[in-house]
Amino acid sequence: MNKAVRKAIIAGNWKMNKTRPEAKALLEELVPMVKDIKNVEIVACVPFTNLETALSVTEGTNIKIGAENCHFEKSGAFTGEISADMLAEMGVEYVVLGHSERRQYFAETDETVNKRTKAALAANLKPIVCVGELLWERECNITNEVIARQIKLDFFGIEADDLKKCVIAYEPVWAIGTGKTATAEQAQEVCAFIRGELAKLYGADVAETITIQYGGSMNAGNAAELVSKTDVDGGLIGGASLKAADFTAIINAAEIG
Ligand code: PGA
Repeated sequence: MNKAVRKAIIAGNWKMNKTRPEAKALLEELVPMVKDIKNVEIVACVPFTNLETALSVTEGTNIKIGAENCHFEKSGAFTGEISADMLAEMGVEYVVLGHSERRQYFAETDETVNKRTKAALAANLKPIVCVGELLWERECNITNEVIARQIKLDFFGIEADDLKKCVIAYEPVWAIGTGKTATAEQAQEVCAFIRGELAKLYGADVAETITIQYGGSMNAGNAAELVSKTDVDGGLIGGASLKAADFTAIINAAEIG
C-alpha cells in the first residue's frame, strides 16, 4: 500500500545491442537529460563489452550501471562466462538475472536463477530478478501459479536482509519486444500478487520495501499509467532504453510517479 517507502527504479536492458562507440554516444546523450532526476534510480544494464565504457561515461552522475547476467560459480572452468566478483570489482552495481530470453534461449532454470542470485548477492551486486508467464500460461489461467513458483524457487534460501537488496521485474513473456504491453491493471494485479507472495515468505513489512518493476514493451506513451499503479515501482525497459529521448521520457514519468 505504501509506494512512498520504495525506490522507483527505471532500468534499461540493452540486450545484445551497441558497440562501444555507440554505447558511449548513447550514455553521453542521456547523462545531461536526466541529471536533475531525484526520485528515481536510473540504471543502464549493458553488454559485458560495454561495462567499462559505461562506468567511465557515467562516473559521478546519477546513472548506475548493471550487467545482463552473471555466472553462479566464483571462478573456474566455465569458458565464456563472467562471475559476479568480476562485475563487482569493476564497480558494476546491478545485474539482470533470469531474463525470459535467458530462460528461453539459454536453458536458464529457476534453479540456476536461484544460484546466480545467491552468487550476485555474495558479491554485493543488486540482482534484478525477472519473472513472468508465457502467453499460453496466461490463457490457461495459471499466471499466479507460475509466478508463485518462480518467486519461491528463485529466492529459495535467500534471507530477508538479502531479499531487500533485490529488485523483482515482472515481465510477462508475451509482452517482451512484441509491442503488446500488459494493461496497467494487469501489471498492477501481478505486481500486487508478487508482493503478496513475498509477504507470505518474508512478512508484509519486508514485502512492502521491495521494488517490483514492470517490463515488456514499456515506452514513453504508456509508462506514466503503468508506474502510477500502487505496486508498480518502475520498469525494466528493453527497446525504448536504446534511445535517450524515449528512455528519458520514461524516467520523467516515474519521477512524477
Ligand atoms: P522490451 O523488453 O521493453 O523491448 O519489451 C523488455 C525486457 O526484455 O526487459
